[in-house]
Amino acid sequence: MLGHLLHQAGIDTIILETRSRPHIENRIRAGVLESRVVDALDDAGLGIRMHAQGLPHHGTGLLFGGQTHRIDFQALTGRSVMVYGQHEVVRDLVAARDASAQPLYFDCSDVTLEDTGTAPRLRFTHAGVANELEATLVAGCDGFHGICRGHVPHTAYDRIYPFGWLGILADAEPSAHELVYANHDRGFALLSMRSPTVQRMYLQCAPDEDPEAWSDDRIWSELSTRLATDGFELRTGRITQKGVTPMRSFVAAPMQHGHLFLAGDSAHIVPPTGAKGMNSAIADVLLLARAMQAWFARNDDTLLQTYSDTALRRVWKVQRFSWWMTTLFHRFDGANAFDRQVQQAELDYVTSSEAGARALAENYVGLPLT
Ligand code: DHB
Repeated sequence: MLGHLLHQAGIDTIILETRSRPHIENRIRAGVLESRVVDALDDAGLGIRMHAQGLPHHGTGLLFGGQTHRIDFQALTGRSVMVYGQHEVVRDLVAARDASAQPLYFDCSDVTLEDTGTAPRLRFTHAGVANELEATLVAGCDGFHGICRGHVPHTAYDRIYPFGWLGILADAEPSAHELVYANHDRGFALLSMRSPTVQRMYLQCAPDEDPEAWSDDRIWSELSTRLATDGFELRTGRITQKGVTPMRSFVAAPMQHGHLFLAGDSAHIVPPTGAKGMNSAIADVLLLARAMQAWFARNDDTLLQTYSDTALRRVWKVQRFSWWMTTLFHRFDGANAFDRQVQQAELDYVTSSEAGARALAENYVGLPLT
């Protein structure tokens, strides 16, 4: 669906989705939009529901050693973030696409790609009919498990973390006004939200954890232990969703081969700490849209030629931040006493030095879009 941003930039596009419409709309994914991504969605005319339903956040809490320290994004960077679920962004993109009367095919199967080096040809089946498409350029926004990356000769850079996140959605008023990232001896915890009545929370767990092994009581008890501070009261409610997310950093470079350009998860994924996945995908697509515009409007392929290098410079900074947030907040089973002291010292530094706090804030609200 990210391809719709290309159309918003004035490029004729056909979007193929292997997923089905209801599946996309029901997905509950990350939910923090960077400040410049909010501006870009506004510019693309996609901001109405986001501003009506999203929750602007001007800071976040970092909890360690039993105390919460606030990082004030506004004071440190002049920017804020927007808490608005990824599935809501997808809904807005689908609605805009439907309104544009441009083609959008859900439930495509047997998708194949040929001749990406020169004149890309796509084959796919939709509603039982086999189709063939000749494309000028292909934006491969087909996710980590899509087919496009396989058509780009690349080097893969990879890190798999020895833990996952157990995530829940609960019908409960958020227990804090802002997100709280917690470093606890028993493991990481995150307090987030989706609305004034829905709380989103995560607990570090084993990568292959069975969510069914977690009764509601066990989840609430673990959350209240890991999030405990003086005066904090965890608000509980009906748990409506439970799932385990594995944690991985991955980059494929380059992100281009011939007329095929990778964007988002098809080229790179991050562990969720810091909420960079969707933001990073949108940053790619905005860059690609500008490059495609220059090509179609002026026959100028300079930006297309440099797309991969330019995108990867930002991608790697986002990778660094997501890896760093993950390293800072999680319990690593192999860590010795020295490692744990260094982790605490870094948390202390980030929350007591303005330079340290600003570096976190600058990355969290989002680096400039290239
Ligand atoms: C959420 C997810 C994240 O990974 C994060 O860092 C912050 C918030 C969320 O789902 O709300």
